[in-house]
Amino acid sequence: MRKKIIAGNWKMNKSFEEGMALVTEISGMLKDEYNGSAEVVIIPPFTHINAISRMLADEKNMSTGAQNCSNHASGAYTGEVSAAMLQSVGAKYVITGHSERRQYFMEHNAWLAQKVNAVLSNKLIPIYCCGETLEEREANKHFDILETQISEGLFHLTEAQFAQVVIAYEPVWAIGTGKTATTAQAQEVHAFIRKLIHAKYGEAIAQNTTIQYGGSVKPENASELFSAADIDGALVGGAALQSRSFVDIVKAMR
Ligand code: PGA
Repeated sequence: MRKKIIAGNWKMNKSFEEGMALVTEISGMLKDEYNGSAEVVIIPPFTHINAISRMLADEKNMSTGAQNCSNHASGAYTGEVSAAMLQSVGAKYVITGHSERRQYFMEHNAWLAQKVNAVLSNKLIPIYCCGETLEEREANKHFDILETQISEGLFHLTEAQFAQVVIAYEPVWAIGTGKTATTAQAQEVHAFIRKLIHAKYGEAIAQNTTIQYGGSVKPENASELFSAADIDGALVGGAALQSRSFVDIVKAMR
């Protein structure tokens, strides 16, 4: 059985105090209301990771992570944060290649491949994001785009390394827009991604790879999305900023 993961990507939101309050609420509500097996991952800004990892130290199914890391190990890279530093403050996951990083910070696949290496060599788990723009989908290029993003960012990995990776399919046109991919659209892409993995790494690894969906996931659409055969959880943005909506999304994963 593949691991199901619901991750909340806070992006550049929440003061330290607000963040601590939100995690306290979420963990309390999950204790009272959730007995499913999904892992719940809180992905706050860098400044909050240390405190949140301490808060969650005793929670069996909760962990924390980062939204990005440097592709370098250390040195004169002002403003950067290394994967080793993230590991040292208790992060477990690192998002790599979120579409906002690709779009606003010019991160491209070759660079992301280096970030994935940095993440894995520090025993952290990359959540590798991929997804097409509206223009690319309308031109029917989405499968090609996804294949390029995944092969250039991930397919240099050995089988043992790839087996650690989580993938998030996030159509750019669905992020923060309120416009979700239909369950059929998302399932079609998830099945395609699993087929790519199968062709490269074989059946066992393809069947074991967690593929999250992201893009306007809400309590109202989560159950239906999670009912699809190849959707193994969600990377949630806006709805992860409130305890009630985030916990309701987690509860949709049985
Ligand atoms: P959204 O963001 O849920 O606000 O659409 C998802 C993401 O960017 O990870």
